[in-house]
Amino acid sequence: MKFRTGVAILLLNICVVVFMYRPWPFGGFLDYLTPPLESMFYLALVAVACLLLWSTTPKARVDPANKAVFITGCDSGFGHELAERLDKMGYHVFAGCLAPDREGARSLKESTSDRLRIVPIDVTDDFQVEQAVKYVKDNIGENELWALVNNAGVAVFCEIEWCSVQEFQKIMDVNVFGIVRVTKGFLPLLRQSEGRVINVASLAGRFTLPAFAAYSMSKKACIAFSDALRQEMNKFNIKVITIEPGLYKTPITLENYLIDQNRKSWAETPTDVRADYGEEYFDAFLKQVTLSLRQARPNVMEVVDNMIEAVCTENPNYCYVPYWRYRLRAFIISNLPVYLTDKLFAARFPVIQPESRKNRSPKTPTTPKSFKAFTLPNSA
Ligand SMILES: NC(=O)c1ccc[n+]([C@@H]2O[C@H](COP(=O)([O-])OP(=O)(O)OC[C@H]3O[C@@H](n4cnc5c(N)ncnc54)[C@H](OP(=O)(O)O)[C@@H]3O)[C@@H](O)[C@H]2O)c1
Repeated sequence: MKFRTGVAILLLNICVVVFMYRPWPFGGFLDYLTPPLESMFYLALVAVACLLLWSTTPKARVDPANKAVFITGCDSGFGHELAERLDKMGYHVFAGCLAPDREGARSLKESTSDRLRIVPIDVTDDFQVEQAVKYVKDNIGENELWALVNNAGVAVFCEIEWCSVQEFQKIMDVNVFGIVRVTKGFLPLLRQSEGRVINVASLAGRFTLPAFAAYSMSKKACIAFSDALRQEMNKFNIKVITIEPGLYKTPITLENYLIDQNRKSWAETPTDVRADYGEEYFDAFLKQVTLSLRQARPNVMEVVDNMIEAVCTENPNYCYVPYWRYRLRAFIISNLPVYLTDKLFAARFPVIQPESRKNRSPKTPTTPKSFKAFTLPNSA
């Protein structure tokens, strides 16, 4: 049973129990309500329960016959699972793979029907994107391109001071300009079918934790791009949807890979910066990253189910956040003031004092003297 169905049944039960046993022997707040207000109380409970039940009813789905879907990043993770599932449902899947000769693409080909085609694509390469669009045009036959799923992505979780500018550029090139490039390439086909674009963003695109600067920047940009695209494509009846997962266990959140990446970046960081932080700080940071990654949810199907819904339902939502706890957390956090979210994230990601701060008294001003010379007087 779905969580929302459970809550709806609970609300209806509360309604019945309260109605049957009133007036309460120990005096409840209903005793203070006038009859019209009491009726409104029951009506509100029933309305919320009905809304919850309605939200769990399956939505009408489109017919997969003659519909093609192009997905980027099918070598592994969500993209791989989505390609398999859509193929089983009868869609004509063009599975974009970064490495078509490697195990991921090979196993996808083996586990799916003849309809599925592997398309080599590096989303950072203009030529490869052009070739992929041409391949789809040449091989789509009588079918229409119903959906484009921009799923390919990379991640890096390190502090800004040891995240190189090249690292920032790389992540933006894949997670942002990759999406722009691929979307622009496929829009003419999507205009013909009045299809849809599904962009895999992240909750990191809604709020930013320490060590998430580069990744969050890219996912915020992905959401901004999707927002503009949705409004601009409305006139062509093209839908634009974002999928915004929390943390899930896929190759992108592999502990060893992310730790190695951090060590490499740390080794390339200027010595004076490293001395200011100290090795002890860096080790504690790595431990914290490891602990956080271990909390990733193993059930990737929660995300894939939402991707399926975005592709297949006639009237999809604008945005999907898989898993109710992530949804609730996102809702609460996005309504808290910044000073509280900063405290919350600091508690979730505690790190020790950097080497250069250890022997300072807490009152030592953080503003360097040279900055003070430029401070404007209060009266200015
Ligand atoms: N897992 C999570 O916790 C999480 C949370 C929120 C959002 N997301 C997003 O979900 C999407 C899918 O990630 P995932 O979790 O399924 O991880 P994943 O298994 O690593 O999937 C990412 C895919 O993108 C491919 N890729 C990387 N660079 C590419 C490029 N330049 N061109 C084309 N393809 C490229 C990767 O290929 P290789 O395997 O060959 O590198 C891989 O197949 C990403 O956009 C990610 O940011 C993931």
